[in-house]
Amino acid sequence: PFRRSMRSWRLEGSSSTTRTRSLGLSTGASYHCAGAAVFPILSVRPSMAHPDIERVLLDEAAIRGRIQELAAQLSADYAGRRPVLIGILKGSVPFMADLMRAMTLDHTVDFMCASSYSGESSTGVVRLVLDLRESIQGKDVLVIEDIIDTGLTLGYLRQNLLTRGPKSLEFVTLLDKPDCRKVNISPKYCGFKIPNEFVVGYGLDYDEAYRHLPYIGVLKK
Ligand code: IMP
Repeated sequence: PFRRSMRSWRLEGSSSTTRTRSLGLSTGASYHCAGAAVFPILSVRPSMAHPDIERVLLDEAAIRGRIQELAAQLSADYAGRRPVLIGILKGSVPFMADLMRAMTLDHTVDFMCASSYSGESSTGVVRLVLDLRESIQGKDVLVIEDIIDTGLTLGYLRQNLLTRGPKSLEFVTLLDKPDCRKVNISPKYCGFKIPNEFVVGYGLDYDEAYRHLPYIGVLKK
């Protein structure tokens, strides 16, 4: 049977209106959310993990729970508006699919593909491989990304998209590796901050493999 583990929540700060809590995962992943709900995280049984995975950083329940929170926050922040969600291919596909179905807000979707990675490292040169189908002029734009590492990709996309005259432009990322930043990008909406480690699963790949894994993990060396 699955092993249920209740991870501890640690109060990280508070304001007059909201309390910010951080989920201190043993692996170093953390996230910030308003509210005080405590929920159990269902761990992935080691035997169910892919044989190439050394350890699971974020399991399905943790990802699902955090996406529900992000969707609620976006639905509230964009109430009365009809944003366009731009998924950055290919890594954002599972995140985008789950996020858009959890949102209670009318919205449209479009996709872009920018490439800078080869194996485990960024080449530093960002190329636009696929462009949007629709104009974003005068629209509220939410760019949906799987992970921000150096920030080069989103830095490039920000510059590119701003020339098209959107009404607003914000970034939504499932994962953020803030220690790796080379370009000043701070996403307004972030699922989890993680340490500087190469991760795969839930859309993230290593040379196109492992995108299908339902959890996010670290590869064996
Ligand atoms: P950045 O341009 O360095 O911020 O990298 C952004 C892109 O690099 C992401 O959309 C991913 O495709 C890829 N990437 C960065 N870190 C990882 C990782 O840990 N695993 C898999 N892909 C990654």
